[in-house]
Amino acid sequence: MSTSAKPREQWGSRVGMILAVAGSAVGLGNFLRFPGQAAQNGGGAFMIPYFCALLFLGIPICWAEWTMGKYGGRFGFNSCPAIFGLLGRHKVWRYLGVLGLLIPIMIYTYYVLIESWCLGYAWMYLYGAVDLGSDPNQYAANSTAMFNNFTGANQDGLMLDGKLHISVIVWMIVFALNFFLIYRGITKGIESFCKFAIPLMALCAFAVLIRVLTLGTPNPDKPDLNVLNGLGFMWNPHDKGGGPWYTALGSAQTWLAAAGQIFFSLSVGFGVIVNYASYLRPKDDIVLSGLTASSTNEFFEVCLGGLITIPAAFIFLGAAGASVTGTFDLGFKTLPIVFLYMPGGRIFGFLWFFMLFLAAITSSLSMLQPAIAFLEEGLAIGRRASVALLGMITCLGSLFVIFFSKDLAALGTIDDWVGTVAIVLLATVQVILYSWVFGVRRGYAVAMEGAELGLPRLFNFIIKYVAPAYLIFVLGYWCWNDMPGKIQVLREQQVPFLAICVVLAVLIFLLILIAVAGRRWQAETRDTTAFRTKAFPAEVVS
Ligand code: ALA
Repeated sequence: MSTSAKPREQWGSRVGMILAVAGSAVGLGNFLRFPGQAAQNGGGAFMIPYFCALLFLGIPICWAEWTMGKYGGRFGFNSCPAIFGLLGRHKVWRYLGVLGLLIPIMIYTYYVLIESWCLGYAWMYLYGAVDLGSDPNQYAANSTAMFNNFTGANQDGLMLDGKLHISVIVWMIVFALNFFLIYRGITKGIESFCKFAIPLMALCAFAVLIRVLTLGTPNPDKPDLNVLNGLGFMWNPHDKGGGPWYTALGSAQTWLAAAGQIFFSLSVGFGVIVNYASYLRPKDDIVLSGLTASSTNEFFEVCLGGLITIPAAFIFLGAAGASVTGTFDLGFKTLPIVFLYMPGGRIFGFLWFFMLFLAAITSSLSMLQPAIAFLEEGLAIGRRASVALLGMITCLGSLFVIFFSKDLAALGTIDDWVGTVAIVLLATVQVILYSWVFGVRRGYAVAMEGAELGLPRLFNFIIKYVAPAYLIFVLGYWCWNDMPGKIQVLREQQVPFLAICVVLAVLIFLLILIAVAGRRWQAETRDTTAFRTKAFPAEVVS
């Protein structure tokens, strides 16, 4: 029952829709972030808080996001500000919906850059352009130098310094490809691309995994460095302080890391699922689809992300080489050394980075669509104009990250404040809106329309009480433990401070646009349609 005059965009097929949502979820977080988080926070022991976060936060909030999106779509709305305003009946919710635009836009500005590094590395492997020298003692230094040169991590402005740096050319190609696909729309762009990219990504990932698991003991002089010990190095429960493994469970940091990983990995609190679900038809199932997409993500994360990087690094480089220090160290600095030792390393290097690129682009596409939907429905501008406007904003943001590349400071700051904290904040806003304002009974009724799987009754209790308490703990702990240090950095260092100014500038700009859009929706009384028509499902269903 859409009140919108414009024909609604909808997913072409269920499989395509699930692949698009799974594509949004499966990304760099699964292959680069997860192994590092797990290894640093207790290995196997990390999986206890990880699965708790999945069961009590990830999947329930996913379902709530699917439900809110589907409900908004019924009234012709596709963006968080519009949908939150509709559900919350007060304009404060519309303004809180700004998080559902700010988060994907700001994450996109750096995510697309990492995506272009992956394509750049894949290209270098394909053309045999990766050269770490002939002295094994220099491999690590050369690999780090290659990464720093490619990403400009040595110096600010390096990549835009008078000549066109190769990584900027790759970034331009990847950036343009994202916008080309977004311009084509939900079905012809995102869905068609994901239908081909996800199976291809799975194939590449399996090829690399099989190679790693069949390596055996490549160096007979070091029989300890074998596949089994590599898996044990990653997965044996341990405590990073050296105590018994279960002490890892007593650390709030471990629980925080697990929750952060689940959010980032499932794209929960990104504003993406709400937007994607709004393109569903009223009778489409969301319970089974949501679970299928989340399970696909978990499979890629635990079974592929968790079995490739660290075990492979251990087999060739031992415990010291496989010890993780930063998100990019393992994937971009250590693995190139591993591929050098590995039989067929050049082709597996290509497959690894190409797989990362495919995983990343299906995620970055999903970060653009929420803002496109908002510009179209809020400002009533066409696809071309909204793509051009968003292209300009994200291009400037991305150029900022590219310019301030020294130690990847701009990237790290935006990731810290938006990619880690703001997503938990949006999740909290959504949980309160869904449970306490819209109401769990109504939400349950919407979710069950067309459902092919019963929503567990416990879901209402979890989303109303457990998830908010969990989120408040996560946010509270961050404010107490991490925030003072982060604010100190903003006070003392120029680039992090500038990065936060950029985030705030985009925030203010979006708030102004929401004010303009809100006036239009009010004039058309579209934002109150649900109430005038008494179309809340609790009333319809009961
Ligand atoms: N969910 C996406 C990832 O894991 C953003 O990279």
